[in-house]
Amino acid sequence: MTVEAPSRTWSQRHLLDVDGLSRAKIERILDLAVEMREARASREYRSLLETETVGLAFYEPSTRTRVSFELAAKALGATTVDLHLAGSSVLKGESLVDTLRTLERTGVTMLVLRHGAAGAPHLAVRTTGMHVLNAGDGTHAHPTQALLDALTLRDALGSLDGRTVAIVGDVAHSRVARSNLHALRTLGALVRVAGPTPWVNEFDGWPDVEVAPSLAEALDGADAVMTLRVQTERATKDAVSLDDYVRDWRLDDSRMSLANPEAFILHPGPTNEGVELTAALANGPRTLIGRQVENGVPVRMAVMALLTGAA
Ligand code: CP
Repeated sequence: MTVEAPSRTWSQRHLLDVDGLSRAKIERILDLAVEMREARASREYRSLLETETVGLAFYEPSTRTRVSFELAAKALGATTVDLHLAGSSVLKGESLVDTLRTLERTGVTMLVLRHGAAGAPHLAVRTTGMHVLNAGDGTHAHPTQALLDALTLRDALGSLDGRTVAIVGDVAHSRVARSNLHALRTLGALVRVAGPTPWVNEFDGWPDVEVAPSLAEALDGADAVMTLRVQTERATKDAVSLDDYVRDWRLDDSRMSLANPEAFILHPGPTNEGVELTAALANGPRTLIGRQVENGVPVRMAVMALLTGAA
């Protein structure tokens, strides 16, 4: 395989997904995130985005993504403003486009948007002049989550070339999984998906993706296992009961013994402990769940710096 040198130039103004990012660009983001992570205490980058105003528009709930974007923007010296949906004119019926144009006219230069509709960030690009960062759109994409997951795995495993990562659970409804499928394969990993049939069958035939018929076959020899939140708000129509899910797919110590002895466990959060995995595993020595959260700030710092041309 030809490995491109990490890209030193950056042309994109927006981050809508990872599927358009080359390996060199992903590695550039991850390398810059490592630099920013190491320099965070010294506040070396505290003025990098001092001319930017970052608007946080979260139309769906969030803790990790919203807080880490806000802290990342502040660490780079940007002004931040939170739309506070529950107290906004969205409740008076203002449309998404009108709301985004209002944010732009008040001085927001960079929009961080989470929305239940796939494609909402693309609409923001078409209708405003702000930099747009997709913080999760419907079941479509969650690019910064996939990037912080990739950094967390790279920290733990070194290169992802030839590594096997199993993604278990509600893959069909997961924007995290969809973005991870692109990022992990671009970085050279083999990805296995596994879960109840309605949640995985659409991935049959994807290049470098295996659909494992059972949890045992998904875990066999895996270097890392990412289990996903069962999204009851999106998944009810599939008639997969929580009891059946726990019986067949929940990760526990005994099932993890089928993976590599050193295999790591990831979860994008929020976790439903006892459903997707046991509390012992979520808090045990193989978990990277806390590291995923910690990497959220430097990865988002790196992305914001690159999109504005500041780095
Ligand atoms: N992983 C993730 O997107 O978490 P939040 O919904 O808390 O932002």
